[in-house]
Amino acid sequence: MHGAPYIQAEVDQPRNAKHKRLVDAVVWQMDHMHEAPALIVACYDYDEPVSGGEIYRKAGSVWPGIQNLLLMARSLGLGAAPTTLALRDQALVRTALDLPETFAALCMIPVGYPSGRFGPVVRKPTASIMRFDRWSE
Ligand SMILES: Cc1cc2nc3c(=O)[nH]c(=O)nc-3n(C[C@H](O)[C@H](O)[C@H](O)COP(=O)(O)O)c2cc1C
Repeated sequence: MHGAPYIQAEVDQPRNAKHKRLVDAVVWQMDHMHEAPALIVACYDYDEPVSGGEIYRKAGSVWPGIQNLLLMARSLGLGAAPTTLALRDQALVRTALDLPETFAALCMIPVGYPSGRFGPVVRKPTASIMRFDRWSE
């Protein structure tokens, strides 16, 4: 059993080999999170207490900031990845970080020095993921 029971079903029964690699990476990340030199937690002040899906619906401006952080980390040769799994229990996170009750933590970004391959990333060709006007195969 890993620290996060909500992914236990996927650990026990990955859908295929690719999914298993992904689940293995998520579990590795969870087990080693405390080893990252820095854990940056992106928070938002909602001006009132919020919970559940509201947390993600109302704080869209946080994500472009996180993207900028990821780009800057990469440009400095640092590894960084957005994660949310450890933030599922907001009450616990609020207590751990001593956040005011109108705050929620949206994303935790471990930052560190890459230990493996850190070359250019592969992007799918735009034409294979975009459609014009409406969906078509
Ligand atoms: C919003 C969001 C939340 C994520 N949460 C997690 C997470 O909790 N744990 C995790 O291992 N990966 C999480 N990921 C995936 C990683 O950030 C990363 O994108 C993935 O490991 C692929 O990394 P790579 O593209 O550098 O290979 C999340 C990604 C996004 C966009």
